[in-house]
Amino acid sequence: MWTEGLPRGGGARHERRMFTDSIIAPAKLNLFLAVTGRREDGFHDLVSVVSRLNFGDTLHLEAGGASGWELTCDDPTLACDQTNLVLRAATAFSAATGRWTGGRFFLEKRIPMGAGLGGGSSDAVAALTLLNRMSSDALDQEALAGLAVQLGSDCPLFLHDTPVVMRGRGERISPLPASALGRLRGRRVVVFKPGFGISTPWAFTRLAADAPASYEPTVTAESRLAAWIADTTAPAEELLFNSMERPAFGKFMALPALVAQLRSEFGLVPRMSGSGSACFAFLSEAAPFEAVGAVIRKAWGAAAFVTEARIT
Ligand code: C5P
Repeated sequence: MWTEGLPRGGGARHERRMFTDSIIAPAKLNLFLAVTGRREDGFHDLVSVVSRLNFGDTLHLEAGGASGWELTCDDPTLACDQTNLVLRAATAFSAATGRWTGGRFFLEKRIPMGAGLGGGSSDAVAALTLLNRMSSDALDQEALAGLAVQLGSDCPLFLHDTPVVMRGRGERISPLPASALGRLRGRRVVVFKPGFGISTPWAFTRLAADAPASYEPTVTAESRLAAWIADTTAPAEELLFNSMERPAFGKFMALPALVAQLRSEFGLVPRMSGSGSACFAFLSEAAPFEAVGAVIRKAWGAAAFVTEARIT
């Protein structure tokens, strides 16, 4: 069981003492995701606008005194072995800084897995951030970003607390102008996922099978994004796009069927996030979340995940 109340802070000279700290690991949404082609290293280049949500996991850490890293989780289906990104992040942080020899993580899992909501990546960055905080910022943002991208393509974005543009395979992050942020931050969304997840490698492989038609030319993606940014009257809804919907919706018919139903019953414009299977839609302040949630649960059954959240 997790116990609180031990002293915070510390660094190498304090490693014989125990330190505890906790952090929220938020979920993300890809509001715009254009996959532009396959690279020599096997990854795909993309142009994506990504935002974090005010909804996520909580990661707790008790560090110091121990040798080796351990992870436990309130969700028994999560693999907590050394392949887990939280433990890989801690090992990478120790190797890069020489700080901390081990500790215990406890993860309160709320972000569904196999969803395209970045849960595992966010947990990894939360571990890096916690360890850096306990080490008096031993690593600067650039060094943290370097570690983050080695852990996963979706990790660097979680080092930023506003919506950003992500390019390359996810390692190149750029800010958005204030006029664009103002149209995204605070927007209310419904996020929903069927009982099944989609594996990211599967989704990219399936996309690649239809190449080049499945790839968005870089110039098209960039000009579409630039046009939305430049038109300061264009609402967030006009930004929405995801190249990965076509392969996912082609195989998992439950996704397009419910998207069409939510469009006709509530006038919503749902999109998939990342490689799926989670989808989301903007909700007006007056929109009836409970009624939308009831339709989703009726269509996808008790295993469906549904939550209301806001873009931060
Ligand atoms: O970077 P990450 O480990 O999350 O990627 C998982 C898999 O998804 C990669 O092995 C690759 O197959 C695919 N991927 C990709 N292009 C990206 C991100 C992921 O092809 N930009």
